[in-house]
Amino acid sequence: QTVPPMRGLPIAFYGTVIHSLDANTLEILQECFLIVDDNGKIQKIAKDTPRSKINDLVVESGYTPDVFPVKYLSRGDFLIPGFVDTHHHAPQWAQRGMGRDQTLLDWLNNVTFAHERKFEDPAYARRMYAACVAAGIRQGVTTTAYYGSLHGEATKVLADICLEQGQRAFVGKCNMNRNSPDWYREASAQDSLKQTEDLIAHVRKIDAEGKRVKPVLTPRFAITCDEELLSGLGRIAANDPDIHIQTHFNEAQDEMQFTRQLFPKFKHEADLYDHFGLLGPKTILAHSIFLEEDEISHIKSKGCGIAHCPISTSTLGEFMMAPIREYLRRGIKVGLGTDVGGGFSCSILDAMRQAFIISKARETFSKGADPALKLHEGFFLATLGGAQVCGIDERVGNFVEGKEFDALEIHTIDAERNNEIGCGSLGIVTPIEDDDSVETIFEKFLMTGDDRNIVKVYIGGSSLKR
Ligand code: GUN
Ligand code: FE
Repeated sequence: QTVPPMRGLPIAFYGTVIHSLDANTLEILQECFLIVDDNGKIQKIAKDTPRSKINDLVVESGYTPDVFPVKYLSRGDFLIPGFVDTHHHAPQWAQRGMGRDQTLLDWLNNVTFAHERKFEDPAYARRMYAACVAAGIRQGVTTTAYYGSLHGEATKVLADICLEQGQRAFVGKCNMNRNSPDWYREASAQDSLKQTEDLIAHVRKIDAEGKRVKPVLTPRFAITCDEELLSGLGRIAANDPDIHIQTHFNEAQDEMQFTRQLFPKFKHEADLYDHFGLLGPKTILAHSIFLEEDEISHIKSKGCGIAHCPISTSTLGEFMMAPIREYLRRGIKVGLGTDVGGGFSCSILDAMRQAFIISKARETFSKGADPALKLHEGFFLATLGGAQVCGIDERVGNFVEGKEFDALEIHTIDAERNNEIGCGSLGIVTPIEDDDSVETIFEKFLMTGDDRNIVKVYIGGSSLKR
């Protein structure tokens, strides 16, 4: 395979563009003229541009006005950056939300491992992964950090499919050589490391410049990796400044207890993973629920990012509330993860709404000390925050000249159906009213919209099939 061919023509939009500049700053640009060049990069973004000025801007940008394609966005339409899913288990696609009433470790042993085992068959993997990646794109997820199964071959198939379908992705195979059933466990640390290096080589071969798909080291969690394996992964990371790392971190009480039992010499999980050279600015720590005070400063000093997965952490095992307000206060990178299949939904809009619910609960339990997430903060986590966690915020995450155009075209007014926005399911719709401001329409979309409102998904300037 090769990277999808770059587009040969510029595209341009005129209308409303909404994005985050940082966690606290939402920008709603109206009468915005945005040019995407023929390499899929944002060449020009000009807010408050009267229609009469568009021709001048086209000429100024080096194009010929009479053949220049401009897409005019109507009232109720707007562009937002693509969503980023910072934590997703592709081989759990067909078991999303199953087995709610179990603790994490029981759920892994009783439901998940048996399911992931099926991916030893690359043909089955191709079928499942094609459906899974297509569904993410349909939900407007332009970048995903994927965990594969433990199988090297199936995980290569996952990387192939991301590239074929055009989604930006990090792809890793789970490292796990102990504490799982013998039919779903790698034979040795050596074998696990070899398969990992083989996968890295494959991903770098199919996408040599790392434009879309990148490899990520994926020690499932310390429970399933012995010291030799963790050390080996740390060695790969030390010799490879481009490699990303992801793992599950302080996720549940039974997991933390077992980890302490296996690694009694470490103070906590930050100490443990750091000892093996696995914490750095390219590390994504999923969940991060129960951190000790010095653990928080530890991961902050290492520059790690957090994948907040509010659906799985509030529906699998106990109701757990990650201290997201505290992480944001300290300037730790945070994004959202669907955690498919611990999470039942692959929609980042759903994850964002559940993040609102959890943060509201935390506000109440903390007697107001940890204020709930605001709307603009949830949107930030879903887009730019996720890009920061994945270390790609210099390339995507918001609309800045020079960045790649990863964007969703949102429509909330269906001319034929007379001012209606899709809302969740079952044909329920939230009406857009004549006196609704752009802010109100945006809020209605975030709180009640769904994939029916996402009419186009662009990645690197290419419009993907959805
Ligand atoms: N910890 C180790 N493996 C998993 C997994 O597959 N899902 C979740 N949520 N936590 C894990
Ligand atoms: Fe997970």
